[in-house]
This record gives sequence, C-alpha cells and structure tokens, in this order.
Amino acid sequence: MTDASEHAFSTEVQEADAPGALGQAAELLAQGQLVALPTETVYGLAADARSPEAVARIFEAKGRPAGNPLIVHIDSVEMAEGCVAAWPRAAAQLAGAFWPGPLSLVLPKADSIPDIVTAGGKTVAVRCPAHPVFSAVLAKCGFPLAAPSANRSNRVSPTRAEHVVDQLGGRIPLVLDGGACDIGIESTVLDLTGDTPTLLRPGMILLGQLQAVLGQVATAKPPAAAEPLKSPGQLQQHYSPRAKLILVEGNLDVVLGQADVMVHVIARTAAPPAWASERWHRLPDSAGDFARELYDTLHRCDRLGAETILVQPLPDGDEWAALRDRLNRAAEV
Ligand code: TXA
Ligand code: MG
Repeated sequence: MTDASEHAFSTEVQEADAPGALGQAAELLAQGQLVALPTETVYGLAADARSPEAVARIFEAKGRPAGNPLIVHIDSVEMAEGCVAAWPRAAAQLAGAFWPGPLSLVLPKADSIPDIVTAGGKTVAVRCPAHPVFSAVLAKCGFPLAAPSANRSNRVSPTRAEHVVDQLGGRIPLVLDGGACDIGIESTVLDLTGDTPTLLRPGMILLGQLQAVLGQVATAKPPAAAEPLKSPGQLQQHYSPRAKLILVEGNLDVVLGQADVMVHVIARTAAPPAWASERWHRLPDSAGDFARELYDTLHRCDRLGAETILVQPLPDGDEWAALRDRLNRAAEV
C-alpha cells in the first residue's frame, strides 16, 4: 500500500455535540467517505456497509489486510436482520440481554452485505453499539455502518479522539470527539454459525454472562499456524504499542532493579519510592476500571517515548480474561 493517501485529507476534529456535527458525519458517510466515531468500547472507523467502494477506503486508511473482516454496526434488531441470512433464537436472546452493548454476533451473511466487508466469507459480525453519538449517526444515516477500531492495522485501539488523530490524521476527513470511551477495550465476538456458540474474542461481556443466557459456550482454540483463521484478531501479535511490552512473571521488584530510564511500568500497586512517577502507570484494581484506562495508558507510554513497558501480572478470573487476552497479544512473543 502506498502512502499517497496519508495527506489526502486535512482531518477535522469536531466535538460530537457541536451544532451540525452529527449531520456532517452522516452526510460524509452517505457520500461514501469515512468518519471516526466513538463507541462505548473504542473509537470506530465507519463507512457505509452497503458500499464496496466506501468499505475499501477503510482497508486503505488502516493498512488493514483484506483477509480481516469488519464488524457491521446497526441500531435495531430489524437493521441487524437486514444484514444476516438467519436470525436464530440464540441471537434474539443475546440481543435481548446485551444490546445495545459490547457484543458482536457472527451469523450467516445476507446478500446486501458486500464481500469486502466479510473478507470474502459467508458470515458477518453484527453489533449494536451503546453510545449516543454512534446511535445518533446511525439514526441519521438509516443504513448499517462497517467499523473496525480506528487505529492503523495492528496498533492499539483508540479510546480518545486524539488517539485517532495520532494514527489516522491526514487519512480521513472527520473525527467526531465524544470524549473517552467507557468500556475501553473491543467488544466480545461470539460465533453463532456452528453447532455450539463459540467465543472468538473475549471482551467485557464475559463468558459466564453468555453461558448464563445460552448454556454451553465454547472458547476458540488458538489457531494452529496452518489453519485458516476463524477470527484474524486471534493472530498472536496484535494490538501492539510501539514499545516492547513484557508481561512480568513473578516478582516485579526483581525486574525493576535492572530497568533503565526508557522503561515504563503498568501496575495496580504504588511505585517504589525511588521510581520516577511519570514512568509508573498505576491502574485501578477492578477489571472494568482497568479496561477503561489500559489503552490510554499504552498510547501515553508511546507518546512519552517508552522503549519497554513492563506489566504486572493480572489476577485470574473471568472478568480479567479479555484484559489478559489483549496484553498477551500486545506482548512480545
Ligand atoms: O468493540 C468493537 O468491536 C470495535 C468497535 C469499533 O465496535 N470494533 C472492532 O473492530 O474492534 P475490529 O475490526 O478492530 O475487530 C473486529 C474483530 C476482528 O478480530 C475480526 O477478525 C472479527 O472481529 N470478525 C469480524 N467479522 C468476523 C466474521 N465474520 N467472522 C469471524 N470474526 C470476525
Ligand atoms: Mg481492531
């Protein structure tokens, strides 16, 4: 991919509640252009999901491999049903329990969804986001919006408008700024096309919550190298900051003894007395609060020039599963 597109736009950042901002976003989208919009999970890079030309711009702006399918965002079950070829009972139950919210459902795709959205596959992921700005834009558009996270491919997802500008500035016409995202990590992705519902990507809708609605839920095995990827987000190296991220096993203090000035630390405990405070990022002890701040912290480490980020081990338990997943993927393998 050439970088000719890099300075094609002077990217405008609009407060989402500024007069006319939502209308401007909807108009650009109706013209087949891209707009970055806040969702409750992370910022998304939206395009008209019905238009192959518009969706192609997403892949170009992100530098995203054509083999990685996009999530289609809808604002009602009715709109979801227009994107899928089947709406099984499990989908209805889950939509009733968790929509609007951070759960994407993989279902057989309808003909109305172009192949480029699904990377040529016969299934499509649909999600109803719980964010007033995204919902308002969907309502104005009246058509579904394909939207991956609004970062360059393989980088950390944006949870603030400034993270989007850092990565996609000059490549897209408009970012709507709706403040910091509430959830902070990407949605749970659940495949409903097989015999048993299968978790493809953990998120803050937890495995246990899905099991409470559906009974049995399988977790996807990490794919063997030769197997086709069921969800390309499962690729080991993904969601990485620029800095080298290391998950510390065992005692953090031992590792700290050897650390130099380009080393930053993400921990749930206080910094040791001698440690420079701007290189110690203390995150909250609850999984939900940790998730809300994690990506902002990773972006901040990059901006501060961190070369290495040491991360204290996370607790066990279902509510930390998605965070362990994201940090494992961000870590050097
Ligand atoms: O929270 C989110 O899901 C955010 C916001 C913007 O909604 N979006 C997001 O999109 O994280 P993206 O493209 O960064 O991640 C989508 C994930 C990828 O791992 C992709 O492979 C998987 O969903 N996916 C999409 N369509 C799929 C399909 N038909 N079958 C299996 N996996 C799919
Ligand atoms: Mg992404």
